[in-house]
Amino acid sequence: MSTETLINPTEYAAKKETGKALIRVKDLRKDFGENHVLRGIDYEIHKGQKIVLVGPSGCGKSTFLRCLDMLEVPTSGEVWLGDTKVNDPKTDINLVRRRMGMVFQHFNLFNNLTILNNITLAPVKLGLMSKEEASEKALQLLQRVNLADKADAYPHSLSGGQQQRIAIVRSLEMNPEVMLFDEPTSALDPEMVGEVLQVMTELANEGMTMVVVTHEMAFARQVASKVIFIDEGVIKEENTPEEFFAQPKNPRLQDFLSKVLQ
Ligand SMILES: Nc1ncnc2c1ncn2[C@@H]1O[C@H](COP(=O)(O)OP(=O)(O)O)[C@@H](O)[C@H]1O
Ligand SMILES: [Mg+2]
Repeated sequence: MSTETLINPTEYAAKKETGKALIRVKDLRKDFGENHVLRGIDYEIHKGQKIVLVGPSGCGKSTFLRCLDMLEVPTSGEVWLGDTKVNDPKTDINLVRRRMGMVFQHFNLFNNLTILNNITLAPVKLGLMSKEEASEKALQLLQRVNLADKADAYPHSLSGGQQQRIAIVRSLEMNPEVMLFDEPTSALDPEMVGEVLQVMTELANEGMTMVVVTHEMAFARQVASKVIFIDEGVIKEENTPEEFFAQPKNPRLQDFLSKVLQ
């Protein structure tokens, strides 16, 4: 393992302060027509926490994540990132999105661009880094995930696991304050799940704030600060992973766990 880290620890320590939560969600509601998907979610996420979200398919996990960075516009309620109200029409959402990395089930890389150009595209285009700075940082990150030799390759020549590690690197290139993961391993062949979870675990150990939707319960047990169960549009249970898995209180969570932990 190299001594390089995926995030800059000094930078991270400087950002880390006690007190107010990094993300605050207040009475968040989201309707799609008559479908009341989120029915009043209240939650706070502090710097360095790793929150794992579980719940039955269709319960609104993706919708919740997407409301955090306004890929979905909340019907009502408030989402805050630090001192910025994310769902205020006056807020520049692009500034918010730079602070929140998002990794999806499907990697969403640009197939016509090399790996290096996929990673450096956004920061260069936005004028945040020169091409040289962006490339240097990208190569360091690629080294960290053992993919430096793929810098000039195109996405289609990489395996799914490699593409997802690149998608993570692409987010990290922007120095996000928090990383959102929406079932990052669900589209992968089983033998590739481990390499992606390993990168996520390293990121977690380095102090990144993370919100992760996953069915990988072993990852949740190992990495989560808290696990939350969403059902019927609300958070039905929240606990440390130890308690969450050993002593689930809500009957619907008990039922859910009996299915996923087989
Ligand atoms: N863009 C959309 N338009 C209409 N309905 C949607 C949209 N996105 C999600 N939904 C609906 O919202 C519910 C929750 O979906 P989702 O958040 O994707 O669930 P999960 O990620 O937990 O499987 C589902 O009933 C889904 O059909
Ligand atoms: Mg989903």
